[in-house]
Amino acid sequence: MTRAAVLTGLGTYVPPRVVTNDDLSRTMDTTDEWIRTRTGITRRHWADPGTATGDLAVEAGARALKSAGSADVDLVVLATTTPDHPCPATAPDVAARLGLGNVAAYDIAAVCSGFVYALAAAAGAIASGTAERVLVIGAETYSTILDPADRTTSVIFGDGAGAVVLRAGEPDEPGALLGYDLGSDGSLKDLITVPGGGSRQRSEAAGEAADSAGSSVGGRPADSYFTMQGKQVFRHAVTRMAASSKAMLRRAGWEPESVDWFVGHQANVRILHAVADQLGMDRGRTVVNLDRVGNTSAASIPLALADAIAAGQVGPGDRVLMSAFGGGVTWGSTALVWPDISPH
Ligand code: COA
Repeated sequence: MTRAAVLTGLGTYVPPRVVTNDDLSRTMDTTDEWIRTRTGITRRHWADPGTATGDLAVEAGARALKSAGSADVDLVVLATTTPDHPCPATAPDVAARLGLGNVAAYDIAAVCSGFVYALAAAAGAIASGTAERVLVIGAETYSTILDPADRTTSVIFGDGAGAVVLRAGEPDEPGALLGYDLGSDGSLKDLITVPGGGSRQRSEAAGEAADSAGSSVGGRPADSYFTMQGKQVFRHAVTRMAASSKAMLRRAGWEPESVDWFVGHQANVRILHAVADQLGMDRGRTVVNLDRVGNTSAASIPLALADAIAAGQVGPGDRVLMSAFGGGVTWGSTALVWPDISPH
């Protein structure tokens, strides 16, 4: 029988600085009313200058290990769109700072779907016997890539980190991940981008330099701000999250009405409700915490899970469906019966 990946710990961290919609309306052409009604967001946390994704990941990771009752892991998978550096990956540094020794550690870049992709990768490592226990972290500092002049993106994103520990176990245990539905459509890659800083930009800059002998390579300013075509992203997010959720429900053998909680990627409350409608689920079964944290990309699902537990929503024995959509474009879903654990 295939070894299952069983969720055995959950930890989260958000940086202390709270940025309200009113704070933003003092520096950009927006209003609390617009942000609340178009997205559902009322505030978010932004890291102070000097704080990077790895710092948030270490905090959440330490809490997840505490929640699991053991720091014994043999793999760290970190999902992020905002790594500390283009090179090296952030995960090895996080593993070292957590005192995990020479464990395998790597980053996953699937933007807002990153956490679900990371769960699937970690579960694959467990199923193959490559790992027994895996620390999976979703961590982001979008505040470092937002264009303060772009009100369509700056009001939406927040910083934070969430982590879980997965261990090898049996498919019928509470906490066992029941499979995955993952997908991508790279023809839509321009909908969500950070255009600069990669080899596409650098090879163009190098070409220009070669054309004009004597000019220095890399004279082009880094186009490092996050961009998003919001309206199109909205439409694809609803379609893909609904289809992926349905595929996952079929895989789990669950009817939509038997799902206790839908924990979707926290991008926009209107997206979450539209997906619930397409699934034929009661909107009241949708976990929403984006009002307090905004869209935290790869950290979004674990942060929502922890808030739902703290609010007395998700509890042991509940059927939980998770689904995400993000840049790439990518999407992914998974499901589990919630285990009896104490998040930190
Ligand atoms: N404050 C005030 N007005 C704003 C604004 C802001 N922060 N951002 C945009 N507007 C304006 C626009 O300029 C536009 O004005 P116009 O009609 O005069 O041109 C108007 O509001 C409507 O803009 P539009 O982009 O059509 O709004 P929308 O209803 O599509 O909502 C988003 C915009 C970004 C909230 C919405 O598209 C969205 O949530 N998309 C998905 C985002 C997401 O989920 N991203 C991550 C997925 S991984």
